[in-house]
Amino acid sequence: MTTFRDNLLAGKTAFVAGGTSGINLGIAKRFAELGAKVAVAGRDPDKAARAAAEIGAGALGLSGDVRDYDAIRGVMETAADRLGAIDIVISGAAGNFLAPVLGMSANAFRTVVDIDLNGTFNVFRGCHDLLNKPGASLIAITAGQAVNAMTLQAHACAAKAGINQLVRTLALEWGPDVRVNGISPGPIADTEGMKRLAPDAATREAHYARIAMKRWGKVEEVAESAVFLCSPAAAYITGTILDCDGGSQVGDASRIDQTRGL
Ligand code: NAP
Ligand code: COA
Repeated sequence: MTTFRDNLLAGKTAFVAGGTSGINLGIAKRFAELGAKVAVAGRDPDKAARAAAEIGAGALGLSGDVRDYDAIRGVMETAADRLGAIDIVISGAAGNFLAPVLGMSANAFRTVVDIDLNGTFNVFRGCHDLLNKPGASLIAITAGQAVNAMTLQAHACAAKAGINQLVRTLALEWGPDVRVNGISPGPIADTEGMKRLAPDAATREAHYARIAMKRWGKVEEVAESAVFLCSPAAAYITGTILDCDGGSQVGDASRIDQTRGL
């Protein structure tokens, strides 16, 4: 993509929690293409090393669990030591599976809330004194479940709703120095999330029905939203959740056929 000018992020350091696969890896790659120094982190060190090699440009692949404050804080210290004070932080680590509340143990519910919501707290709380301030930009990767409740998704709905309010609260607390925003992707093709949450044709059709633009999203499109939010073009934007979802949260787009050819 050529949406943003070359070297837009030259001289910037970006840390991407959960950046070792899928959407977040796409964001990390785009940041590197635009000149940023990038570190990505996930639990699996081999996967992190592979992701860093894929990103190239001297990217760091680090391992740590966002559920463990000290561990993820240590990872971010390493990133700042090696790459310099951090300008951009993405909190995108997440876990998910389809299960009804009555098919979910307390530990199952807690696990998803712990990765998504507590993990985002840990990443954002833990990075604050490592940031280049003023001017740093933090972005949480949330989801439509935060706003529109969904069966089989009680854990993710609760966790992502919490993330949205955490984003808004931090925007208020850190307003003068640090911008804090979220991106809410829609169903993005060829991702682990889609594989897990839309495993059959009927479920895919239910998701598709809500998409105003009548196509799945692309990893690269979410990456462009992230670039926008951390660029000077968004210098006065904080506390917002940007839906990058083809209109999935707007309403019911299932009868679009009846609006054609009039
Ligand atoms: P993915 O490929 O599974 O990416 C998840 C990333 O988080 C991986 O790098 C994973 O690496 C890491 N991770 C998981 N648990 C972790 C933990 N406890 N500590 C540290 N890292 C951890 O997923 P994706 O589908 O691209 O989704 C990425 C983000 O977009 C998520 O926040 C998701 O909720 C959001 N989203 C996705 C979609 C979609 O259509 N896919 C839609 C809306 C929102 P390890 O396994 O090595 O830890
Ligand atoms: N249905 C119901 N419960 C489930 C489940 C499912 N499909 N999958 C896991 N669980 C439960 C487990 O049984 C366990 O509960 P228990 O101790 O009461 O038995 C609990 O969830 C934790 O599972 P565990 O496998 O120990 O967690 P983990 O920390 O190793 O892994 C997950 C976390 C479960 C979220 C795992 O799927 C993961 O690592 N996901 C990351 C990738 C991902 O989800 N990407 C998509 C992002 S949208």
